[in-house]
Amino acid sequence: MAIERTLAILKPDCVRRNLIGEVIRRIEGAGFRIVALKMVHMSPRVAEGFYAVHREQPFFSDLVAFMSSGPCVPMVLEKENAVADFRTLIGATDPAKADPGTIRRDLGTSKGENVVHGSDSPENAQREIAFFFSEAELIGMQG
Ligand code: RTP
Ligand code: MG
Repeated sequence: MAIERTLAILKPDCVRRNLIGEVIRRIEGAGFRIVALKMVHMSPRVAEGFYAVHREQPFFSDLVAFMSSGPCVPMVLEKENAVADFRTLIGATDPAKADPGTIRRDLGTSKGENVVHGSDSPENAQREIAFFFSEAELIGMQG
C-alpha cells in the first residue's frame, strides 16, 4: 500500500478541553507520523473557506461559528493508507454512533463538537493540506 498524507485538525473543543496531548498520543500510537503541525485561530471567513463544500448544508453556520470559536491545531499525518486509516481512528461524525475505542466515541460530546477533523479522500487531503501549509512547512516524505 502507498504512503499517503492526510490533514487532521484538532478542533477548538479539543484545544479548549486540554485534550491535544491525549489525541496526539492516540494518533502517534496508531502509527501516524506528524510531518507538519501548527496552531491557528481561524476567522469566520477562513473557516467558511475551509468548509466551502458544506456551504449549502443546514449545519454550515454552526460549523463555521464553532471552528472559528477558538484556536485549533491542523496537522499533516503520514502513513500507509493514511486517509482511510485516520477516518477509522476518529470514527463516525456523531460520537454516539462512532465505534468504541475511536477518538470521537471516547472524547466527542456532540455531532458538531467531535474533537477532530480528517480528510475524506486523497484529493481532498491534498487540497486541505495546501490550505494550511506551504511546501516549506512539510517535512520530507519518508520512503
Ligand atoms: P470532518 O469533515 O470534520 O472530518 O467531519 P466528517 O467528515 O465526519 O463530517 P462532515 O459531514 O464532513 O461534516 C463536517 C463537520 O460539520 C459538523 N456537522 N454538524 N449538526 C450536524 O448535523 C452536523 N453535521 C456535521 C461536524 O463538526 C462535522 O465534523
Ligand atoms: Mg468531512
